[in-house]
Amino acid sequence: MRMRYRCYAKVNLTLEVLGKRGDGYHDLASLVHTVDLADELSVEPADRLQSVLEQTSEIDPEANLVARAAARLASETGGPRGARLSLVKRIPVAAGLGGGSTDAAATLVALNRLWRVRLGLGALRGLAAELGSDIPFFLRGGAALMRGRGDEVQALPALKGQWLVLAVPRHAFADKTRRLYAALETGDFSSAERTLRAAQRVQRGQALDEADLVNAFERAARAVFPGLSEVWAAAEQVCGRRFFLSGAGPALFGLARDRADAHQQRSKLAELKVAAYAVRTVAHARRSISFAGDRPIEYP
Ligand code: C5P
Repeated sequence: MRMRYRCYAKVNLTLEVLGKRGDGYHDLASLVHTVDLADELSVEPADRLQSVLEQTSEIDPEANLVARAAARLASETGGPRGARLSLVKRIPVAAGLGGGSTDAAATLVALNRLWRVRLGLGALRGLAAELGSDIPFFLRGGAALMRGRGDEVQALPALKGQWLVLAVPRHAFADKTRRLYAALETGDFSSAERTLRAAQRVQRGQALDEADLVNAFERAARAVFPGLSEVWAAAEQVCGRRFFLSGAGPALFGLARDRADAHQQRSKLAELKVAAYAVRTVAHARRSISFAGDRPIEYP
């Protein structure tokens, strides 16, 4: 049995940070949505746990969320167990698009199936939250309101084919997320008001516009990522619209009217020598591409 999944990225349409908590994390409120930029994860039986990044060498298991997710599920269910996990990366790494997290969630779902250990959604959510704050969201994907440290997820009806254009500057920071949270100041904090208003619009099936979007990391990201402000201004100028951070950045997104507009803006951004993508919102966290020997599944 070999399973292949397309693991979708996310965009934080809003992200408000409410304040710092006693446990070192921050409370947040975020309207988040999966989009159709995806990594590809293949899972097949093996004697031991192996995770391979295709086209390069084996990933350091400590650093790799896929390997950590597999090891955590094995230990939770009385391991040791084996599987070969191979990953084709297309989502830019550590950009604020949730690439590592979507792969980790897909790993939990796929191995729950391959190993026939049958953990329920609640148990998978618990493991996902241990592995990273935004991994529980990726068990389902689509549109959601995230609260708490990101691990409290309220599902919303998916936006139907909202097109976005992404501009993803490079950076070289290890430990980027922790560093950006540490750079936040009291003035960056807000109530969850704007996020709740945007979530309400999504709940009613209304489209979002630029006035609904907000991100608490804007000041900190401009200060921490060298050259980000310049790329940001250039993107807004060539595309004639506002751009917003996703997550803690440095990925930026702008709203597009339709497919043609998204592709047109992507071409303009490519001329700025920044990685650019035209993407569309999707209703799931992943899609099974092929599934030999059993029926395809979308959910755990
Ligand atoms: O949960 P995750 O591993 O993604 O978090 C990485 C780091 O980001 C945490 O160790 C913490 O420093 C910071 N963080 C935070 N508040 C959150 C999520 C993450 O301060 N809600």
